[in-house]
Amino acid sequence: MSHIPVMLDHVVEHIAPQPGEIVLDGTFGGGGYTRAILAASECHVIGVDRDPDALQRATAIAADYQSRFTMLAGCFGDLDELSAEAGFQGLDAVVLDLGVSSFQLDEDERGFSFMRDGPLDMRMAQSGPSAADLVNQADERVLADIMFQLGEERQSRRIAHRIVEARKTEPFETTLQLAELIEKALGGRKGKRAHPATRAFQAFRMFVNDELGELARALEAAERALKPGGRLVIVTFHSLEDRMVKSFLAERSGKTEGQSRFMPEAANTGPAPSFEHVRKISAPDTAEIEANVRARSSRLRSAIRTSAPAWDKPVELPTRLPTLDEVVA
Ligand SMILES: C[S@@+](CC[C@H](N)C(=O)[O-])C[C@H]1O[C@@H](n2cnc3c(N)ncnc32)[C@H](O)[C@@H]1O
Repeated sequence: MSHIPVMLDHVVEHIAPQPGEIVLDGTFGGGGYTRAILAASECHVIGVDRDPDALQRATAIAADYQSRFTMLAGCFGDLDELSAEAGFQGLDAVVLDLGVSSFQLDEDERGFSFMRDGPLDMRMAQSGPSAADLVNQADERVLADIMFQLGEERQSRRIAHRIVEARKTEPFETTLQLAELIEKALGGRKGKRAHPATRAFQAFRMFVNDELGELARALEAAERALKPGGRLVIVTFHSLEDRMVKSFLAERSGKTEGQSRFMPEAANTGPAPSFEHVRKISAPDTAEIEANVRARSSRLRSAIRTSAPAWDKPVELPTRLPTLDEVVA
């Protein structure tokens, strides 16, 4: 199956590409956004993806657009360094469409889906420790914390305990092995709308790929790389990610909680705002949701870079979890 780009029209509208501009699509995936942006204006698009399979999908666009498209392999958390190394000084727009693509979900071998049997992998970049390494090696408490904090799984302790008991006799190797154990731990599927493993799988995927850490680095990198007037557009599917983008833009535009635009200027003692014109679009219209279930939980947030310097303040993570390297050998 191919990937249906979410909120495509809104994304292009908020990116508002102009001829000669440089737009970075940090989550190339199947190239849905990239293609639409290239078609909307005579701009140049830099595609970035950490998944080697996405790089292969870029060859068709490269053939169609040649001098207006550059594909780069890497993480969007490094978007400023990646684009500078490729010779682009400053960006006019950055777009991120977070999470996994349908290409990744639908391929058994990638091990992202609890509906398909495959190796318990979940690595977007196809390198480094896998979900199997995590599930087979991490402490019970860490596994529970991951499921609770990243998946809001209320039965996280029970599932973690069952995982640790089961792996003593047989290590986890496949997606269905884990999905079935979670299903049993939670008392089966009857009467449940979503598969019982949905939350745990999402949490393990986010942890294996350090998705929140990458988002934090990308927000800081985009703030450094965008030119004055540059647009930042981010589509999220998870409440923690959406909250990170929301509070980053609120802070950087001088409207942190408790502060309002009616507050006297003198009360705002932080650095000059690095973003302005913050906008939000909630879940897309019903027709799009009907055509694409993935769109249901999506949010788009955008803002425009001011001419103020980037803030010297790291983006805080909403969770307190160790890193993958700290929990696997
Ligand atoms: C939801 S898909 C993007 C789909 C794309 N907008 C389209 O229309 O085809 C997300 C893509 O971002 C990539 N990705 C996720 N996190 C990344 C990161 N930190 N750095 C680079 N690529 C990442 C994934 O590998 C995946 O291909």
